[in-house]
Amino acid sequence: MNARRNRTFHLDRESKRPLQEQLCDELRGAILQGKLAPGEPLTSSREMAHDLGVSRNTVLGCYEQLIGEGYLETRPRSGIFVMSNLPSGDPAFRPNRKQNYRVSAPENVEWKLTTPLPFRPCQPDVSLFPMAEWNRIRSRILRHASTKLLCYQSRYTLGLPSLRKSLANYLQESRGVQCQWDQIAITCGSQQALFFLSQILLRRGDKVLMEEPGYLGARQAFAYAGAKILPLRIDENGAIPPSSAKGVKLMYTTPSRQFPTGATMPVGRRLQFQQLAENQSVWLIEDDYDSEFRYSQPPLPSMYSLGSEPRVIYMGTMSKVLYPSLRIGYVVLPEELVANFERLRLVVEDHGPLLEQAVLGEFIDSGAFYSHIRRCRKEYSQRLQVFLREMDKHDVPLDFPHSDGGMNLTGIFRDGRWSAEKISVRLRSIGFDVPPLSQYSPTKTPEGLVFGFTPFPPKWIQSYINKIAPVLRGETITNYEDELRNAK
Ligand SMILES: Cc1ncc(COP(=O)(O)O)c(C=O)c1O
Repeated sequence: MNARRNRTFHLDRESKRPLQEQLCDELRGAILQGKLAPGEPLTSSREMAHDLGVSRNTVLGCYEQLIGEGYLETRPRSGIFVMSNLPSGDPAFRPNRKQNYRVSAPENVEWKLTTPLPFRPCQPDVSLFPMAEWNRIRSRILRHASTKLLCYQSRYTLGLPSLRKSLANYLQESRGVQCQWDQIAITCGSQQALFFLSQILLRRGDKVLMEEPGYLGARQAFAYAGAKILPLRIDENGAIPPSSAKGVKLMYTTPSRQFPTGATMPVGRRLQFQQLAENQSVWLIEDDYDSEFRYSQPPLPSMYSLGSEPRVIYMGTMSKVLYPSLRIGYVVLPEELVANFERLRLVVEDHGPLLEQAVLGEFIDSGAFYSHIRRCRKEYSQRLQVFLREMDKHDVPLDFPHSDGGMNLTGIFRDGRWSAEKISVRLRSIGFDVPPLSQYSPTKTPEGLVFGFTPFPPKWIQSYINKIAPVLRGETITNYEDELRNAK
């Protein structure tokens, strides 16, 4: 250690931290960064004290401490050295600043942004989203709104009142949901609403009746809260109301279009669920995730609109009508749940992104929202027709019993020759994402596959079906075990 090197140690005499502590940090840092190599001698305490202009006791105290920590060692009659058995070759021990702090170039990042593979369910065509209109509203808001919109606004834990009012009008007009705007909570997607509801309503061991097959996100939220999940069976009319819901805390349903089968629940059944919830004091979640997309007739009235007692918790999302990464969903809460929901929301975050909420409110009020829904509905309806026509043209042995709306089509195999799971694996190996129906249920389901058709223009749908038809007809499932290995 020489005088030149000593001068590289920086001690701040203005600081309240003792000089000995500062010197320890400097020496420790020099060793860790490889500026002082294992086995390298240090200058004597007298020289070091002289070079740094500190007392010898300060240096001795520091050496002692670093000997105790294992960074330095004394050698009889030779002096003080950096501990010789420190792993000098180990890059973790001798960090190279460049290596440690360099951000990988984008091409080295494994997880690139992706678009959905065909025919992944539940995906909107984001290219239809009127970005220019959205940005115009956004710029206008930023120009006119005060900078208050950019500050924390913890009073708005349940979202911007302007958006909650716009949504209250929209839900009343389109879904018959009669509610006060302050019963609406804006969430970061309806998945977040499911999570919050599970947390405030359920205790470990509480019974939840859950559609089977059903939405996995809901099942996971209930399971995470420790609920005991019991099956709600499904038929061609959606969830079947149980004869009794005694002892059940919560029921989860998707009456507009059962997810994933696509069955629409008739009004009679909706009323049965409603009454069951009211008579037996059970909470009833109505997840209305894609009712905007009915192509031949308007959707049936929401379950929420049928009851008199506030037992239904209605929820929806902008992920399907606008775009998923917007992360805006909403939930209409019975009044008695509002305060608890708000309390939990505040623990998690003050509120979602307020600027986007402000834009969405204006987007709805300006009518752009409704035009966009109409445009998507038209496009998706055409894609649905092309999808069904192509499947038929290629003699694919699947029936699509519920094809009057939504974003997905569940195809049920006409005979049980091939397992849907095997076919799904085979499809994955050639670049398609078509989950088997069984993926959405812990119990046995009919052999079926779930196709999302909405994000793909008609020409693509044609060419995709051309490619997968032989697989769906079972012509290429000869070597399943190999396929399975490759797909993994
Ligand atoms: C039935 C159902 N509910 C809720 C959601 C969640 O939507 P979000 O993106 O708002 O969390 C989805 C998403 O696919 C869904 O299919």
